[in-house]
Amino acid sequence: MYMQATSKAYQWWQKSIIYEVYVRSFMDSNGDGIGDLQGVLSRLDYLHWLGIKAIWLTPVYPSPMKDFGYDVADYKGIHPQYGTMQDFDELLKAVHARDMKLIMDLVPNHTSDEHPWFKESRSSKDNPKRNWYIWHDAKPDGTPPNNWLSVFGGSTWEWDEPTQQYYLHSFLTAQPDLNFRNKEVQEAIFEVMRFWLDKGIDGFRVDSIAHLIKDKLLRDNPSNPDYNPGMPVSQQLVQLFSTNRPAVHDVIHAMREVMDEYENKVMIGELYLSVSGITSYYGRNNKGVQLPANFQLITDPWKAKELSVIIAKSEALVPQAAWPHWAIGNHDQPRVISRVGRSLAKVAALLLLTLRGTPTMYYGDEIGMHNVNIPVGEMKDPQGLLEPEKNFSRDPQRTPMQWSNEDQAGFTSGKPWLPVAGNYAAINVATAQQDDRSLLMLYKQLISLRQKEPSLSTGEYFPVFANGEMLAYIRQQEGANRFLIVLNITKVKGYYVQDNIQLSGTIELSTSKNREGKMIDKTIELEGGEGIIVRLHN
Ligand code: GLC
Repeated sequence: MYMQATSKAYQWWQKSIIYEVYVRSFMDSNGDGIGDLQGVLSRLDYLHWLGIKAIWLTPVYPSPMKDFGYDVADYKGIHPQYGTMQDFDELLKAVHARDMKLIMDLVPNHTSDEHPWFKESRSSKDNPKRNWYIWHDAKPDGTPPNNWLSVFGGSTWEWDEPTQQYYLHSFLTAQPDLNFRNKEVQEAIFEVMRFWLDKGIDGFRVDSIAHLIKDKLLRDNPSNPDYNPGMPVSQQLVQLFSTNRPAVHDVIHAMREVMDEYENKVMIGELYLSVSGITSYYGRNNKGVQLPANFQLITDPWKAKELSVIIAKSEALVPQAAWPHWAIGNHDQPRVISRVGRSLAKVAALLLLTLRGTPTMYYGDEIGMHNVNIPVGEMKDPQGLLEPEKNFSRDPQRTPMQWSNEDQAGFTSGKPWLPVAGNYAAINVATAQQDDRSLLMLYKQLISLRQKEPSLSTGEYFPVFANGEMLAYIRQQEGANRFLIVLNITKVKGYYVQDNIQLSGTIELSTSKNREGKMIDKTIELEGGEGIIVRLHN
């Protein structure tokens, strides 16, 4: 069964588990109800204990907070709500002191409308920065230049009365898009990148990367035949001309060149595309982003056979010298438990942490945080507020981290900006740390096993079996222990009957502890939501 000799050297970002810290909700150090940098610093030891090697911080830049930091007003500063540049420097040092890496969120597609660049740009048609954003005349009848829709609903064009032109915004009207066809804009963003790289950060997660270039001719988007009214309004159209244009790869390549002026840096691209769509973002000769985000485990239904196809596609399409990425949660999507059910929380962890590719965890998923229902009157997220009749608010997955059973789950001494989940007394870090069978302890055990066993971290992936319930695969690397992973992705019992080749081995880790240390049989029977990692003997 053993296939290929590998003695490649792997980069830190291939071997690490990345943890997304949604800063606003992670830990508040000063009682204002909003998470901050000192808060993150105070919880670094927890992340280190868990085995996390790289932290991605959501935007901490000065911002009017219309989109909670994804509307940047100064790319080189720190929002006072989050702390100071000194706090940032202290955090970076502390991260590195623990042999961990720090990844910043870079939001190049758009700025806040309060960014000085936009203020200049909108001040007059002949301002030197006019062409830093995407301005266009109205059609003769006064309507917008084309039919494009913003991701958050409504036209992508906003009329500017004083200068009598429209500007383009892919997201909120308060988030005008930069014009990346303009080299000056590219240079300005490269300079921002160098500013943070010079400080010693280890990489960027690049926001909305597919949006950076739009169709030169601004052609209308076609209507979407699969649209139904339950979907966001923006999906009435297929975003054919407004995103994912071929020329975006030139910009990304140039960004990568900036990264490569430094050593060992990583770029992760935020992409909502199919597996074949994301793989183009590795770029020619893999000189695009190193990790184009693969969100298929978030956006696609959880059925064992379908999952096996998603994984097979990633295995088939990720170029040879490139490396896959996987995630089961992020700050824009409903929490994994709320999507697939609490009974599948552990098997979801097994899946994420045994695939070939860099796993990205979302804060709180490791303790089983779920989506928290926020009453409409208390909704904060603009995406929710813009289409209130639909359920698109992202607040439910952004509630404060549950640290302990103290007031406000130990997140703040004040009033949290979003309510803490009602179940915090039972679901929290401190309680889970005392319970060997908790989801958190399973995550810790899995992370440590993945980091100890080269096969699980950088080894090859071989599909073995998939039916309606079960998914089985092998991870192996030359000269190292080989592992069989068997997962039951449903809520009912499932079987994997080994017919052709019979594997034998010892269960190294299991979601229900009582199986560990036992040998597997010809028939492997797993309860719903159960998963095992087997150290193979043959
Ligand atoms: C990305 C971010 C999201 C934000 C959007 C606009 O998708 O993840 O939170 O709202 O970009 O910046």
